[in-house]
Amino acid sequence: MSKTYKIAVIPGDGTGPEVVREGMKVLNAAAAKFGFKLEYQNFDFGGDRYLRTGETLPDSAINDMKQFNAIYLGAIGHPDVKPGILEVGILLKMRFSLDQYINLRPVKLYPGVETPLKDKGPEDIDFVVIRENTGGIYTGVGGAVQVGTPNEIATQVMVYSRPVVERCIRYAYEYTRRRNKRKQLTLVHKTNVLTYCGDLWNRTFKEVGNEYPDIKQDYNHVDAANMWFVKSPEFYDVVVTENLFGDIITDLAAIIQGGLGIAAGGNINPQGVSMFEPMGGSAPKYTGQNIINPLAAISAAGMMLDTLGETEAAKAVDSAISQALGSGKIKSLAAGKMGMSTSEVGDFVASLI
Ligand code: IPM
Ligand code: MN
Repeated sequence: MSKTYKIAVIPGDGTGPEVVREGMKVLNAAAAKFGFKLEYQNFDFGGDRYLRTGETLPDSAINDMKQFNAIYLGAIGHPDVKPGILEVGILLKMRFSLDQYINLRPVKLYPGVETPLKDKGPEDIDFVVIRENTGGIYTGVGGAVQVGTPNEIATQVMVYSRPVVERCIRYAYEYTRRRNKRKQLTLVHKTNVLTYCGDLWNRTFKEVGNEYPDIKQDYNHVDAANMWFVKSPEFYDVVVTENLFGDIITDLAAIIQGGLGIAAGGNINPQGVSMFEPMGGSAPKYTGQNIINPLAAISAAGMMLDTLGETEAAKAVDSAISQALGSGKIKSLAAGKMGMSTSEVGDFVASLI
């Protein structure tokens, strides 16, 4: 009997539904080829629903999500909704409520994709950033007093406990081992200034590392890591870092791998329900034109298969993306400049599975 996975689909705003559709096309091709089944159920969370009902992500939805094997998200962001409402109310709420404590961001330059880095190619840009996804400054601990006065004070505290740091670091060592490339894990932090949190991360990194003698340990300050990502990306295999630093360095990383048209991410709870998404936004101005690039969403779908345990299918998706881009038939990653429509890119990748 073949396995069936239940997938909650949140197409979301703007071009989200268009890219998700192509991702599902590729998922279905992979399911047919590798002998498993996917059952989808759609949810309409996003800007339109919020404008209609005032609701972002109701608590009942969190319980609904727990009935699924994974969540596939298109994009959240609406021009008529004040920035922050949907991000906090949907994306962050999902991460926190489902305890998706890992943000996994592969940084890979596919053949045929242009990088802004001079003299660097696919052999130089192939690493993974593991960002802690529920702690740190994102915890929301802090406050403000004397608001609006000349002496206003505000705090927003970087909060980390040993268990929260340790589970992330342990995941990173396990991931580095399973990836089985250079077997090098780089901790990125700011231990020279963040003496409390940095020390906690650094000691945990070394202590847990004792259990992984096959993995080479390495450390960069976050400011230096920014520099090295640009100068020597080939130096990295797997990077692990705290939440806000991870947020910042993964945007830099997205640009060196060719931009948001190709960058995908996973919000992962290794014991629970994980959510996969293209990193690009909802791109409202391209909505409904069938010109947005679906490759990041397709790549996110591949990551979803990997996390579900369909490793071979995940590899097939990755190599189909690689072949599609390597063929030279997709002229650019930018919307409207691909030389193909959104659905044609989806068809092309699906045909290569
Ligand atoms: C990301 C995003 C989010 C974050 C925003 C939209 C809340 O930038 O996934 O990287 O800061 O984590
Ligand atoms: Mn970000």
